[in-house]
Amino acid sequence: CGIVGYIGQDNAAPILLNGLKRLEYRGYDSAGMATLQKDGSILATRRVGKVANLAAALPSNKEDAGLGISHTRWATHGGVTEPNTHPHSSDDGIIHIVHNGVIENYQQLKVSLSAKGIAFHNETDSEVLSNLIAYTLKKLAEPISEKTVLKAIRQSLVQVEGTYGLAIICSKCPGSLFGARKGSPLILGIGKNEMMLASDASAVRARTKEVVYLEDSQIVALSGENFSITTLEEAEVIPEISTISWKDEEAQLGDFEHFMLKEINEQPLALENAFRGRLNMSEGTCKFGGLNLSRKNIRQIDRILIVACGTAWHSGLVGEYLIEKYSRIPVEVEYASEFRYRNAPMDKNTLVIVISQSGETIDTLEAQREAQRKGYHVIGIINNVGSTIARENDGGIYQHSGPEIGVASTKAFTSQLLILSMLSVYLGRTRDLSYADGCQMVEAIRTLPKLVEQTLELGEEIQSIAKAYAKNKDFLFLGRLEMFPIALEGALKLKEISYIHAEGYPAAEMKHGPIALISEDCPSIVIVPDDETLKKNLSSVQEVRARKGKVIIITDSYDIPAHLADEIITVPKSHNCVRPILMTIPLQLLSYYIAVELGRDVDKPRNLAKSVTVE
Ligand code: G6P
Repeated sequence: CGIVGYIGQDNAAPILLNGLKRLEYRGYDSAGMATLQKDGSILATRRVGKVANLAAALPSNKEDAGLGISHTRWATHGGVTEPNTHPHSSDDGIIHIVHNGVIENYQQLKVSLSAKGIAFHNETDSEVLSNLIAYTLKKLAEPISEKTVLKAIRQSLVQVEGTYGLAIICSKCPGSLFGARKGSPLILGIGKNEMMLASDASAVRARTKEVVYLEDSQIVALSGENFSITTLEEAEVIPEISTISWKDEEAQLGDFEHFMLKEINEQPLALENAFRGRLNMSEGTCKFGGLNLSRKNIRQIDRILIVACGTAWHSGLVGEYLIEKYSRIPVEVEYASEFRYRNAPMDKNTLVIVISQSGETIDTLEAQREAQRKGYHVIGIINNVGSTIARENDGGIYQHSGPEIGVASTKAFTSQLLILSMLSVYLGRTRDLSYADGCQMVEAIRTLPKLVEQTLELGEEIQSIAKAYAKNKDFLFLGRLEMFPIALEGALKLKEISYIHAEGYPAAEMKHGPIALISEDCPSIVIVPDDETLKKNLSSVQEVRARKGKVIIITDSYDIPAHLADEIITVPKSHNCVRPILMTIPLQLLSYYIAVELGRDVDKPRNLAKSVTVE
């Protein structure tokens, strides 16, 4: 979910709306806004669906009093309905809140507030917060001022278990905007005679470069000119103001129909950006400025643990193959959400790598914090510069892929693969990868963008294959070794944007169960690299065909007999360290064109968020 709050001299509504558009990557199930009107009333508008629906519902001829809060929701507790859309007001209409996070003891609080005669109007956990603050404020029985509202917020939040990023307004205290943070990020933007609150700095970039990153258990009260930060325990906090330097990376669609297609086509450049300045041709290695690890530290690494979610987890799985093969360091890959709670035994000299495009995924952030709490050095592979994960880790490698707008990750995924490949060269060369092998890999990385350009030329061919297969309800994606995670990613892409059921499997494992699915209506997409697994993969193809399953082969071999498959998509030959990238591209295009054929909302598929910022 995304939060934006504003207090200042301008009309709040357009500023809030602009901020919300920037935060839509955090969810777009529904969006809402509450603004203080000049007559002292609060105008609340909520709409199911994207921020554009909210924008269309706002009265165009109204000027508010320069105070408001807004929210874009990714549903957790309660369905995607208008009543469940934030802002939520207290039963008495005085307190209005927007909330990101999960209130774990909301049932208990709800029961106790209901017993006091307070009515609830929706199914969310968040509504309990507005009612709790309003009830506490009433119980204080003091004249309402910034000080008393703060007191009520503080007294309420100490009773709350769970996570929150909160923006709060009180209709009886029109000169103040309040915020609080625990677990879910919240930043404060300091403008000229105006202040903002937001889930991340991108939402305030149009108004200011000066921000304060709030810490957990801090509460802030803002007027147009001033702000004060205190802790839940009432201690004063001296703020640290950071200046953000924005590169103007405004993403425009240009001639493309969707951001996803644009981003697929941007991959040659995104990959070049990932390796620019990082290749050392003369020594056959790569270099990274921000790992904060000495050569000695690197030699001491006994194990690497990669932690990520979704597509980034898939890139981690490819990284496992690459790093083990070229650096000879054992690697494990965990879902961030599992790592957080598993308390797995770890080696003393484990290097933890977190991978996240957005740098805001809460599970990944919390996994990083857990690893750091236990004293491990955590490095990040992150695209979003200045994001929470990037700010908090011990070192890292920025992807420099540029903004990725399509919810289904494409260029950020292949850029993660390339960085992991470079990392495997770097770690390998610091240990026992030979100069000759290092040089070959660095050369393969340097020349990769050209091969990606050639692969993109397959677009039309893949579009016609997509048309022929779009009506199928199930797909299998099969691959061996490092092509197994590429199969997983291919299946995920198809699921995400076309809503077709798809499963990725290690090719040989298919016969141990999924083979039961195979029929004329369940095509298999088999990744067949021109390497030592080629014959084995072709045996898997035969097993599918023997059961009347259709087969689409994606390969870089020129010797596969045409009769073996229904379709053969051939990508250029490349070094094993970059081959997974080339094999990914046809899969991206295939899902894209299938989704277009089915008329899906490619860039904003149903139920998803670009970055999930709640647990
Ligand atoms: C969400 C997105 C996925 C993404 C995952 C991790 O679930 O829908 O596409 O892979 O989060 O995102 P991150 O920003 O951490 O890479």
